[in-house]
This record gives sequence, C-alpha cells and structure tokens, in this order.
Amino acid sequence: MKVYLETYGCQMNQYDSELIRSILQASGDELISRIEKAEVVLINTCAIRENAHRKIYGRLDLLRPLKKRLKRQGQDLVVGLLGCMAQNLKQDLFKHPVLNLVVGPDNYRALPKLIARVKKQGSKEIDANLSEYETYRGVAPARVEGVNAWIAIMRGCDNFCSFCVVPYTRGRERSREIDDVLEEVTSLAAQGYRQVTLLGQNVNSYRTEGGTFADLIRRVADIPGMMRVRFTSPHPKDFPQALLEAISTHPHICKHVHLPLQAGSDRILDLMNRTYHIKEYMALVNKIREMIPDVILTTDIIVGFPGETGEESRETAEVMESVRFDSAYIFKYSERKGTIAAREFADDVSAEDKKDRIVRLFDIQRRISLEKHKGLIGQKVEVLIEGAAEKRSDHQMGKSDGNHTVIFPATSLTPGSLVFVEIMEASAGTLYGNPLPTPALTCI
Ligand code: SAH
Ligand code: SF4
Ligand code: F3S
Repeated sequence: MKVYLETYGCQMNQYDSELIRSILQASGDELISRIEKAEVVLINTCAIRENAHRKIYGRLDLLRPLKKRLKRQGQDLVVGLLGCMAQNLKQDLFKHPVLNLVVGPDNYRALPKLIARVKKQGSKEIDANLSEYETYRGVAPARVEGVNAWIAIMRGCDNFCSFCVVPYTRGRERSREIDDVLEEVTSLAAQGYRQVTLLGQNVNSYRTEGGTFADLIRRVADIPGMMRVRFTSPHPKDFPQALLEAISTHPHICKHVHLPLQAGSDRILDLMNRTYHIKEYMALVNKIREMIPDVILTTDIIVGFPGETGEESRETAEVMESVRFDSAYIFKYSERKGTIAAREFADDVSAEDKKDRIVRLFDIQRRISLEKHKGLIGQKVEVLIEGAAEKRSDHQMGKSDGNHTVIFPATSLTPGSLVFVEIMEASAGTLYGNPLPTPALTCI
C-alpha cells in the first residue's frame, strides 16, 4: 500500500515516525512523499498544548476534500491519527468524519494489521493501550539521511508535573537495554552518522541493571566514529556528579545542557510538582558552570500557570536575568484535560496577562541571547556541517558544540565534516562567520 506519513511534535515523535516507517516497510508498504498518490495517510500527532490539537483538527479538515475526491474515483482513502493526541483523545477522535484509524504510541506494531482491516472491512479501528514494556526492541528505525541520528533510549514519564499531559500519552518510564543502544549506535557510526541525540521524555532518568544514564552516555561517546553525542529532554532532578563529569570531560559529549526551569517562583514550582525550588535550581546551575565552564544552558518556561501573579512572573524574569540562559522556549500555560492542574486549579490567568507576560519574557531572552551571541564575535567555533543554508545556496549551515546555528560561505567540505568558523556577526538566533582553513579533522 502507498502510505503518506506526516509528523508533528517533539523529536521523540520524529523518531517514532522512523519506527513506523520501518514497521510498514517490513510488511510491504511503500512510504511516499506526495500525498495525492496516497492510499493511506497517517498523521503522527502531539498533545502538549491546545494549539497542537488545533493544528491537527485543521489538518484533518483539509483532508476531507481529498478523501471525497478519491471516493468519487472509487478509492477509499484510509486516514489514521497516531501519537500523543491519539492516546489522549482515543475514541472521541472518530467524531471527525475523515478518520478511520486511531493508534497510540505503544501500539505501532499493530499498524499493518489495523490498516489491512480498515481497507478490507471499511471499519473504524483503534488501538490506544499503553504498555509498561514496549521499547520497540528489534525494530530498526528507517531514518532520514542526515548528519544526526535520533535514538530513543527510554520512553514514558513518571514525573507527573501537574500541567503536563505526557505521562498520560506516553505512559510509564521504561529504559532500553544498554547493549541494544550501544549496538545501534555502533551501526549508526558505520553508516556514516556523525552525531547521535539520545532521546527520552526524561532522558536522564534512564536506568537499567546495566547502568545509569551517566554510564550509558560515556559508553555511547566512546564508540569510534561518533563525534558528537547530545541528549534531550532532561529533568533537573537527575544530574548526579557522574553525569556532569562525563559532560565536562568527554570530548564527544556536547557541552550543552537543557535545564527546564518552568517557573521562577517556589510556590508555583510546588503547584507544578517540579520537585525543586529556585535555591536548588540555582545551586545546580552554579555547579554545572563550575564543572563545565563553557557550557551552553537552555531552558523551557511556562507563563500563566493557574494562580500565577504578576509578581510571581517577575520572579521568573529575575531567574532568567540571573542565570542568563543562552536560549529559552517560553510557552503560555495551556490546560490539558485529565492533568492534575486541570483537575485542581482554574485556568484563571487572563489571555491578556499571559500575552503580556510572555512578551516581557521573550524580550528579556532576546536581549540576553543577542548579548551572548555578540560575545562570540571574533571567536573560533567548531561546527558540524549539516548541509546547504536554507535561504542562501552559496552558504552552508551547521551546529556548534553548544547547538548554535552557524551560517558561513560554502566550503568544499561535505555534511558530517567538522570545520572551524570564525564568528563575524550574530543575531539572537544565529551566528554568521567565515570557515577557517584548518587541518582536516578526523574522528577519534
Ligand atoms: N520532558 C520534558 C518536557 C517535554 S514538553 C521536560 O520535562 O523537560 C516540553 C515543554 O513544554 C515543557 O518543558 C513545558 O515547558 C512545556 N509544556 C508542557 N505542558 C505544557 C502545558 N500544559 N502548557 C504549556 N506548556 C507546556
Ligand atoms: Fe511532562 Fe514533567 Fe514529564 Fe517533562 S518531566 S514530560 S514536563 S511530566
Ligand atoms: Fe508532544 Fe507527545 Fe512529544 S505530547 S511534545 S509529541 S511526547
């Protein structure tokens, strides 16, 4: 069958789509890139905020004319909704007339069977059952070619931050066997991938009998040919000394730590169930900076959590000023049905206040990012080349160790090579520079 798959949401969803492709190809389906030719359209979805849901409903509406047109030509287009929104809304999704199939993140092995059933019987099929064990062992992701390979090392989340739907859409935490992960990364290096990003909803909570996250990341970084190892998304509660030592000393582990803050007020952090206060968060920031002096720190922040006052939002601003993150993702609180916050608190910060607060925090972060980036002018940064720059064909784009986007005049070097770039100009989001004629860099 010809299947068209599109993906929304986080890197974990991108990775899951690679698993889905693999599962479908193994059962003889063909993944195609033009929706007009599809017999099956699958949409891998996100549920993290209401606008993620809205976007998908908009997408489903757009599929109706296509489905009708094909129907007139005697073909029944199968439309399936996968991922977090499928797990979150289950059966209710069938209220949308275009959908035939709903499959949650732990049920992708059943896809070929379910698609065949819909095709044969014209039925509506659903499989949205969370598993405590499914890690897709033995499924080799059908990756899109590139410099970076995503690899999920754990799935699920047991933290239950009160605002967050992920523990409900992704289920309980479970980690993959260390040897499975090492074997996969070894084969990725042999295939020419130069960077691997370890993924998990709570990546640093990884734990098996074979070792902790710190053990795993060291062993991954030791694999010959793997020049860079990144990880996302971590939780501040799981940064033991051994992990910071690994980041600080191993040349292949990128010195970039994403440290989601969420809020700058202890009262709000308690209500969010984040398990730390600002004093502890700041102590961790200081320790990270002490052990890894050139570390790049990024964060996630939510404005307008239930009951957040103007003063409490100013506390978030103060923490941002004091940490000086390199960059930050800032979101308006979006109530998610079924979460602790939705059950216990009213979404009572007005839309106007949320907007004012987010604009204020955006402005602060833009200024700090720009100041930090300007501070890099004149410095030489090592860049892993990813490919041609998007809007300038005579330029290339790559990432620094700290994950800055760097744009520079094209070199003869191919994607996957490392080049030193002298930074000449900077904006809040991007660095611009000139590649330096350096001795060819080989991987150790
Ligand atoms: N596991 C990751 C989070 C993944 S979701 C972690 O703990 O860092 C990414 C970010 O989305 C979160 O850090 C949070 O800032 C934001 N987010 C999650 N739920 C949200 C909600 N209900 N409203 C607004 N932002 C939310
Ligand atoms: Fe959500 Fe918190 Fe788990 Fe992150 S740690 S996925 S914010 S519940
Ligand atoms: Fe979205 Fe699910 Fe990822 S809710 S952020 S796709 S884990």
